[in-house]
Amino acid sequence: MSMRTWTVGDLDQIAAIEAECFPDPWTRRMLAESFLSDKFHGVLLEEEGNVVAYGGMSVVLDEAEIQLIAVSEMFRRCGRGSSILSELLKVAAEKGVKEVYLEVRVSNSPAQILYLKNGFHGVYCRTRYYSDGEDAVVMMKELG
Ligand SMILES: CC(C)(COP(=O)(O)OP(=O)(O)OC[C@H]1O[C@@H](n2cnc3c(N)ncnc32)[C@H](O)[C@@H]1OP(=O)(O)O)[C@@H](O)C(=O)NCCC(=O)NCCS
Repeated sequence: MSMRTWTVGDLDQIAAIEAECFPDPWTRRMLAESFLSDKFHGVLLEEEGNVVAYGGMSVVLDEAEIQLIAVSEMFRRCGRGSSILSELLKVAAEKGVKEVYLEVRVSNSPAQILYLKNGFHGVYCRTRYYSDGEDAVVMMKELG
């Protein structure tokens, strides 16, 4: 199992996991556009040549927003989501980030538990944030 940053060659596999995980996935094109921004940082876990988990965040000055985090379904509950989150938080700290934000569906308790266990707390709700009308919880972690 190895942790590394994204390359263009990973995009098809990341897009496939996105489509498996979310009703409103980032498309391959959206993922590819992340390479145009020097504010974006994408990490992934690779096992036997396959992408099994990934995350992505954008960093602006001393704030980061985690925009993507997912683990392929059959690889869940073995610490990979925690590893991706830790790696993003480590990179954010190295870049001088003070506050990390993310949005999560109100129904997504697995992700909310992961974030709570890693020091995030809910700050407010964005009503009907998602295209299907579901609310988002905005969560935040301060980096010391
Ligand atoms: C959320 C997600 C990334 C977690 O990945 P994961 O590799 O399963 O997470 P971990 O194994 O590191 O779990 C860490 C802790 O989070 C909590 N957790 C994770 N999944 C859980 C679940 N289905 N039910 C309850 N708690 C859960 C547990 O406390 C877990 O620790 P434990 O296994 O020791 O009890 C994964 O479920 C996923 O990809 N979901 C679909 C995509 C998604 O919703 N992404 C988040 C968008 S905001």
